[in-house]
Amino acid sequence: MANTAVIILFSIVLLCITATQGRKTLHQNNEWLTSYPVVDDIDGICKTMVETQGYTCEEHKVTTEDGYILSLQRMPVGRSGKKADKPPVLLQHGIFADAITWLFNLPDESLGFILADNGYDVWLANTRGTKYSSGHTSLDPNDMAYWDWSWDELASYDLPAFVQYVYNQTGQKVHYVGYSLGALMALAAFSQGQVLNMLRSAALLGPTAHMNQITSLPIKIAAESFIADAVYWLGLREFIPNGQVEAKFVEDICNTLHMNCLKLITPFTGPNCCINSSRIDVFLDHEPQPTATKNLIHLSQMIRTGNIAKYDYDVQEQNMQNYGQPVPPPYDMTEIPNEFPLFLSNGGQDMLSDVKDLQVLLNDLKDHDGNKLVVLFKEDYAHLDYAMGVNANQMIYDPMMAFFKDN
Ligand SMILES: *[C@@H]1O[C@H](CO)[C@@H](O)[C@H](O)[C@H]1NC(C)=O
Ligand SMILES: *[C@@H]1O[C@H](CO)[C@@H](O)[C@H](O)[C@H]1NC(C)=O
Repeated sequence: MANTAVIILFSIVLLCITATQGRKTLHQNNEWLTSYPVVDDIDGICKTMVETQGYTCEEHKVTTEDGYILSLQRMPVGRSGKKADKPPVLLQHGIFADAITWLFNLPDESLGFILADNGYDVWLANTRGTKYSSGHTSLDPNDMAYWDWSWDELASYDLPAFVQYVYNQTGQKVHYVGYSLGALMALAAFSQGQVLNMLRSAALLGPTAHMNQITSLPIKIAAESFIADAVYWLGLREFIPNGQVEAKFVEDICNTLHMNCLKLITPFTGPNCCINSSRIDVFLDHEPQPTATKNLIHLSQMIRTGNIAKYDYDVQEQNMQNYGQPVPPPYDMTEIPNEFPLFLSNGGQDMLSDVKDLQVLLNDLKDHDGNKLVVLFKEDYAHLDYAMGVNANQMIYDPMMAFFKDN
C-alpha cells in the first residue's frame, strides 16, 4: 500500500496506522459502519489549523461532475497582512491524508504558510472521502457506492473540479503542487490533456507514477494481499487506517516480517532524515484519513505491473463494459505536452517513489523541452520528508518557488 504507494499512499497511511496503534485504543469492530459526523466550519481546517496561527482563511466548496462535494481552504493573505500579489497555487495532498499535510509543522516549515508569506494566493484541496470532503449530492459515506472509486476518479473528477474552481474564482492560471498520489493524479490528468489550459506549471514532490521498484517490503506484501483478497477488501469498501480490521492487517504483515510495528515508518517509507518527531502528535490529531479499498487495489496493481493504467477489474467482461476493451487502457506519459513547465523532486532514500521508477518516468518525458523540466534530486530525503521535513523550506520549497517565478 502506499500512498499508496504508491503513493503516499501507503506511506502516510502506514505511518498513521503504526503511530496510532501506539497511542489510541483500537476502535470497535465494524467501525466502517459508523456514521459520519457533520463537520461544520467551527472545527474546519481554517478554524483549527490556519486562523490559530494568525492567518486569514476562507472555506470553499466545489461539487464534482459525479456528485462529490469537496472542500478547499484559501489563504489569500500572508502573516504580515499583505494581500497576495502572486498567482494562485493549488496544493494537492496524497493518500490517507488531507490538506493538513501542508499546515502541521511550524509556519516557517509548512508549505501552506510559506507560500502565503511569499505572496501566493494559496488554495488547499481535500479529495473525496476525507473528513472535510465527505459530502455527495445523493450518496452518503455509509453507502457502498460512495466508495466505488480509485485514483482514476481523483484524476478525472476531483482534480478538474479543484482547478476549474480556483481558476474561476481568481480569474488566473494556477500553479499546481502534488505530493505522492497528488502527483500521480496530475500526471494522469495531464496525459489526457485535462486541466492544462488552466495551469501555469506543476511541481510534483515524491511523485509516484511507475511503482514496480518499490523497495519497501511491507508495502509489497500488502499489495500482494490486496490483490489476492480483492473480493474481501472490496466488501469493506472503505479503508480506515486506524480501524480494527486494517490495524490487524498491518500487524499480520509485521509479524510475517518479524518487525516491530511501532517502528514501521522506516520500513514503509524509507529513512526519513528530517522529520520533527515531536510534531507527530499534532499530525495524528487530524490524520489518517480513510480511502476507498478500490483505490488501494488499483495501486497494488501498479506495484505488481509497473504500468500506469486504469483500474483493472480482472474480469474481461467487466473491463469491456467499463472501457470497451479487455484490458484497462494505459495512461501514456509521453502525451504530456513537451512545453508544459514541470518541476519534479525525488529523494534518494524514498522507498515509495523509488529512484529507478522515477527514471522510467523521466524516460517517458525525454522529449520534454529542456528549459521546461526541472529535476531536483535530494539524496538524503525519503517520502515523508517532502511534506514533513523541517528543512524542506530551503531544500525543496525555495527552489520550487524560484521555478514558479520563471513560469
Ligand atoms: C466555472 O465557471 C463556468 C463558467 O461560468 C461554469 O460553467 C462552471 O460551472 C464553473 N466551474 C466551477 C468548478 O466553478
Ligand atoms: C519541533 O516541534 C516542537 C513541538 O511542536 C517545536 O517546539 C520545535 O520548535 C520543533 N523543532 C523544529 C526544528 O522545528
